[in-house]
Amino acid sequence: MKKKLAVMALAAATLSMMAMPVYADDLVTVGYAQVGHESDWRTANTQNYQDVFSEENGYSLDLVDCDNDNAAQLEAVRTFISKDMDYIVIAPIQSAGWDTVLQEAQDAGIPVIIVDRMVKVSDDSLYTAWVGSNFELEGKKAAAWLKAYLEKTGRGDEEINIVDIQGTIGASAQIGRTKGLEDACKENKNWNLLAKETGEFTQSKGQEVMESLLKKHKDDIDVVYCENDNEAFGAIDAITAAGKTVGTGKDDILVMSFDSTKTGLTDVKDGKIILDTECNPLHGPRVEEIIKALENGETPEKQQYVDEEIFAAVKDVESVNADGKDYDVTVVNDKVIKGRAY
Ligand code: AHR
Repeated sequence: MKKKLAVMALAAATLSMMAMPVYADDLVTVGYAQVGHESDWRTANTQNYQDVFSEENGYSLDLVDCDNDNAAQLEAVRTFISKDMDYIVIAPIQSAGWDTVLQEAQDAGIPVIIVDRMVKVSDDSLYTAWVGSNFELEGKKAAAWLKAYLEKTGRGDEEINIVDIQGTIGASAQIGRTKGLEDACKENKNWNLLAKETGEFTQSKGQEVMESLLKKHKDDIDVVYCENDNEAFGAIDAITAAGKTVGTGKDDILVMSFDSTKTGLTDVKDGKIILDTECNPLHGPRVEEIIKALENGETPEKQQYVDEEIFAAVKDVESVNADGKDYDVTVVNDKVIKGRAY
């Protein structure tokens, strides 16, 4: 299996000249246990891995859509082990429950690369490398922006009622984003976290949860903190169907979101989502770099965070500080949306 990539590069160059087929035996086999297809972000992530790990690039990708089912995801990883794949990539649905299967992969001598979300394991040596997002930092940035925005618009001391439509419970994306908000609610005594309920990162569940929250809390909700764009789309539909308005004004419900997909940023430009904190799904190339390093006998970096931006509908807040670092806020216009890859 070693040096397959170098051999493939040479073979591909030679074969392209000779217009001959690439033999499947020479491909590096990669099994990707994908979370599912719950969101636009996830679709972009799947596409990115399919583009990077193509046969043309020297890979045979076995991508399993686990449809948000933990048991199915464990089963997918065990199947990759039994097929003796060269590398296993996992985007974990849940952060807990990975020790046993990762030990099985290690015993089989197959390097495991964790992507997107994080696993909670007793021993970090159970996986080779991790690439993904700092979800708690995303939550902190969003909360810092809200605080600054409320202060700028003269509402810094007002009672602010917030509802949190959470992601899939137990996913590190949910744990981090929820924590970012909860900590901010503890610090800002005038922020009331009225409710938190999972929208499972889907549009339909986001809408359903928002409908029930609107019935329960009537005219009380000032801010809805959606833990991804698809939940925000569903929440916006529920809010407008209930005869209320989303937007940037005092009488509107402020909708906050994460991901910053093209559709999400279009809603930001239209003022329906006031803030969209980016979560970058395009980490296929970084995973390929890790695999290439391993093929060359090098030790890749253990953990790599992807860079992520902040997008707002309004220009009131130019930058936010989170964990001692300043982050610029980009006001969304047509050019920003046009330049978006997904
Ligand atoms: O783990 C990343 C999250 O999962 C994204 O925010 C969401 O859209 C996806 O389903």
